[in-house]
Amino acid sequence: MKLAVVGGGSTYTPELIDGFARLRDALPLEELVLIDPAADRLELIGGLAQRIFAKQGHPGKVSWTSDLDAGVDGASAVLLQLRVGGQAARNQDETWPLDCGCVGQETTGAGGLAKALRTVPVVLDIAERVRRRNPDAWIVDFTNPVGIVTRALLTAGHRAVGLCNVAIGFQRKFAKLLDVAPEQVYLDHVGLNHLTWERGVRIGGPEGENVLPRLIAEHGEAIAADLHMPRTLVDRLGVVPSYYLRYFYEHDAVVRELKSKPSRAAEVAAIEKELLGLYGDPALDEKPELLSKRGGAFYSEAAVSLTSSLLGDTGDVQVVNTFNKGTLPFLPDDAVVEVPAAVGAGGATPLPVAPLEPLYAGLTSHVTAYEHLALQAALLGADAGEKAGRRAVFEALLAHPLIGQIEYADQLTDALIAHNREHLAWA
Ligand code: G6P
Ligand code: MN
Repeated sequence: MKLAVVGGGSTYTPELIDGFARLRDALPLEELVLIDPAADRLELIGGLAQRIFAKQGHPGKVSWTSDLDAGVDGASAVLLQLRVGGQAARNQDETWPLDCGCVGQETTGAGGLAKALRTVPVVLDIAERVRRRNPDAWIVDFTNPVGIVTRALLTAGHRAVGLCNVAIGFQRKFAKLLDVAPEQVYLDHVGLNHLTWERGVRIGGPEGENVLPRLIAEHGEAIAADLHMPRTLVDRLGVVPSYYLRYFYEHDAVVRELKSKPSRAAEVAAIEKELLGLYGDPALDEKPELLSKRGGAFYSEAAVSLTSSLLGDTGDVQVVNTFNKGTLPFLPDDAVVEVPAAVGAGGATPLPVAPLEPLYAGLTSHVTAYEHLALQAALLGADAGEKAGRRAVFEALLAHPLIGQIEYADQLTDALIAHNREHLAWA
């Protein structure tokens, strides 16, 4: 089996490689191709990938190329983990929204919209080229904003599933607290990508006993500390929100915090510099400890599970991003939700979800409407013209629950276009 990774030159890639090497029984890779326009990084990361495979006795062949079409040829699955504009563009997404007193973040709010507008056309072009070569290949999308990008892919008819490490992170964390094997822990995980709540934690299967009340009673402090949110919030809700909910529940405090320190992009750029130095050392043959300072913990394990279930038609349950299709009846069928789903050769089929309380349904609806408008804006081509483009951006911003006011939506529209002109076909 051949697997291709687009964005393989990412400094995250050794996390993925480490997972592929450790979990080779679940996903027997014969060939792994790393694809990236940055040839110098590919060289460094490809070399390390080969050493990791060799050390762990993985028989698979690792190669790399900047030629997308050649790289994906014959692949059964293509993993997308790219970042259009790199950390420099991310730094902007995290910075200019703060001038309006709005959160500056790479996937939430105005910065997330900017990222969606830069990313969707690039991902759709890649997916089209993958489909032309291998109509049966599966696309596993890690590229943010995962909800909007997956919606773009599925709407264009691609065989795609969106993936994030938030759910697997909770699964691993809760398993440790409960002292059970991670595979035994099933989450009642619900919402949209980066906008989710754990409403139940079950042992042994999706219908197993719900131990969340006990978990919160016994470990509420540690759980809340991890999320950087007050324990009282978790106690009062009786559910565990993802740490991305902090941008909503503590928006103004987060803005103050963000204004007072370097951006995450700046931090990551410094970590990346150091990582690239380490990766160049021919003696290094495992993922370095420093990589744990990035946010991608367990994403390799999520990728291995998803890919092996899609290709092996296992039908097991995993948390993924896929079309809603009635799962949350108050959302359109073509919204993309992040929920537990049975995964097999036909893709992801969400399990039924208990009715969502208004406390969560309201925000979920609101952000779904924003994602709809964001995707419309991202799909506008050069022929749309700047007037229509500007209007689409404005509407998406006005619809976002963290923006919502005309004054800010206008200012942020100007800033988004000014900072992203080269990526916007219509501008
Ligand atoms: C988590 C999120 C990812 C995101 C990452 C950022 O893993 O689920 O979607 O890309 O954090 O981590 P970073 O180290 O780049 O800040
Ligand atoms: Mn994510």
